[in-house]
Amino acid sequence: MKKLCVSLLAFVMALTLAACGGGAGSLSSADRSAASSKAAESLPSSDAAAKVLVAYFSATNNTKGVAEKLAAGLGADLYEITPAEPYTSEDLNYGNSDSRSSKEMNDPNARPAISGSVKNMEQYDVVFVGYPIWWGEAPRIMSTFIESYDFSGKTVVPFCTSGSSGFGSSDQALRAAASGAKWLEGRRFAAGASADEVMEWANGLEID
Ligand SMILES: Cc1cc2nc3c(=O)[nH]c(=O)nc-3n(C[C@H](O)[C@H](O)[C@H](O)COP(=O)(O)O)c2cc1C
Repeated sequence: MKKLCVSLLAFVMALTLAACGGGAGSLSSADRSAASSKAAESLPSSDAAAKVLVAYFSATNNTKGVAEKLAAGLGADLYEITPAEPYTSEDLNYGNSDSRSSKEMNDPNARPAISGSVKNMEQYDVVFVGYPIWWGEAPRIMSTFIESYDFSGKTVVPFCTSGSSGFGSSDQALRAAASGAKWLEGRRFAAGASADEVMEWANGLEID
């Protein structure tokens, strides 16, 4: 078993990018500092660092905040799953059974299109996948994402944000679609989770 490792060089680059307004540019200096000290605790001993991607979908930026803290703390690449057709606030109205999100979640076969793609997915050993809970599940666009790549041989780590629901079985359909992957137990975060909380979880993961 090898602990999730980070490359110090990659991490310093991530901090530099953040300071320049690129990459995780929206992190506060307190978050950057917390992520820095947490990452230093998990520097590799002898194992080669795993190449890590943090991929996320976020309709209202809560999951985005967690994903950015995770990527900055791990020195990982960050990829936003961008809907080809952006979600409007009316689309997200879960009080309306005719809204786009309601219709998608009522149809297990809905696969909203994604704009763009991950470059060279094959280079990654570990892929974190983040999403908001919609009606207790991952949004259907996450199924579009998972079904678009070959995850066999990779370790996949799901995480989510929600109003109050726990992680539950929100990743069930995603896990089933990622045949050949080592799929770890997921973790739910509240909106605005701190870098400390996020990195404490990430550093405790055991990646084979
Ligand atoms: C269509 C829809 C359905 C939702 N369903 C749930 C739910 O079942 N349980 C819950 O706790 N929160 C639910 N929420 C709230 C979101 O999970 C929460 O606000 C999340 O942090 C949003 O993340 P985002 O900003 O990354 O999109 C729902 C939100 C939307 C738009």
